[in-house]
Amino acid sequence: MEELNLSMLDFTHPFWSWFVGVGTILSIAFCFWLVWWMTRGNPMEKTASSKDGDKTTGHQWDETLQEYNNPLPGWWLQMFYLTLFFSIVYLALYPGLGSYAGIWQWSSRNQYDKEMQYAASQYDPIFEAFKKQEIPELAKNADAMTVGKRLYLNYCTVCHGSDAGGNKGFPNLTDNDWLWGGDPTNIKTTIMQGRAGIMPNHQTNGLTVEDVDNVVQYVLTLSGREGTDAAKAEQGKAKFMTICMACHGTDGKGNPMLGAPNLTDNVWLYGAHPDTIKQTIMNGRNGVMPAHGEFLGEAKVHLLSAYIYSLSNK
Ligand code: HEC
Ligand code: HEC
Repeated sequence: MEELNLSMLDFTHPFWSWFVGVGTILSIAFCFWLVWWMTRGNPMEKTASSKDGDKTTGHQWDETLQEYNNPLPGWWLQMFYLTLFFSIVYLALYPGLGSYAGIWQWSSRNQYDKEMQYAASQYDPIFEAFKKQEIPELAKNADAMTVGKRLYLNYCTVCHGSDAGGNKGFPNLTDNDWLWGGDPTNIKTTIMQGRAGIMPNHQTNGLTVEDVDNVVQYVLTLSGREGTDAAKAEQGKAKFMTICMACHGTDGKGNPMLGAPNLTDNVWLYGAHPDTIKQTIMNGRNGVMPAHGEFLGEAKVHLLSAYIYSLSNK
């Protein structure tokens, strides 16, 4: 019983296709019949309530208000027939009757595919030509940068902002300060393959909450922040030199191989406030730049790389 019910709810079952198709055809036929029947002579002669010789329906309100039964104007009637004929032609050409695909075999998917193919035939040669130029050279090509900017606005603004100025957790791409390196090859690799920054949490790093407080003070001194607690910073430094330096370097200047940020330059991915820094060290951070290579293709990524490069290499 259960199984039977489930199969009836499966709307790909042929029954539903017939149900919709036959139902639609019958409704159209019914509309034809109705329009025909309503205009054949005076229908009121067949209605019991009509009065002899009188064109009213016999309905009456407010003592004097009567309902007349005049035939529809000819043009109005033709419109009814026109819409009915239109529906027949439409349903023959396009999908609509259950799973019948229509004479033209149209579908939103194959229309989309055709448009994409057309776009590819128009634009691919342009992208391929740009791809032959080196990134620094391409970055000086104003036409290429106009197209590059459009690609950027389409695919990158949600995370990096329309001015590429970034946001909390999403790096500024205009400032020549790089997590993963700013030479043309690095930028292209970032966009092609994506990047995942892995900053471990305090437990993974083997830090107590007190250690974290000390390390925060030390991190603040790295970028020359005033009003830090020197004693705590000193203890924090000892921890930094055993744990953090593995990724951020002994001088705290970071490591582009790991996407570990420079902690000395006062440019912050997640924020400069001591509480934010504490949060970073307590909970870790995992910023992810998605890979775009497969999705956009190398030629577009090449152009995007040149555009990103142009933003900080004027
Ligand atoms: C879903 C959000 C998202 C989208 C979409 C996105 N990015 Fe990113 N991108 C990031 C994040 C997050 C990072 C930082 C990764 C990290 O923390 O290491 C990043 C890093 C980068 C970097 C490296 C910056 C550095 O300092 O080394 C570049 C370059 C970049 N993105 C370019 C792009 C371009 C070009 C696009 C559009 C094709 C794009 N991104 C789309 C989230 C995104
Ligand atoms: C395994 C490598 C690794 C270790 C160990 C590590 N970090 Fe990080 N750290 C990173 C990475 C990668 C990021 C960037 C995370 C992202 O892109 O989301 C980061 C980000 C940070 C940030 C945020 C910087 C900003 O601009 O907002 C701070 C602060 C920081 N780390 C401090 C430390 C301290 C202090 C330690 C030692 C207790 C430490 N890190 C240990 C890899 C590491």
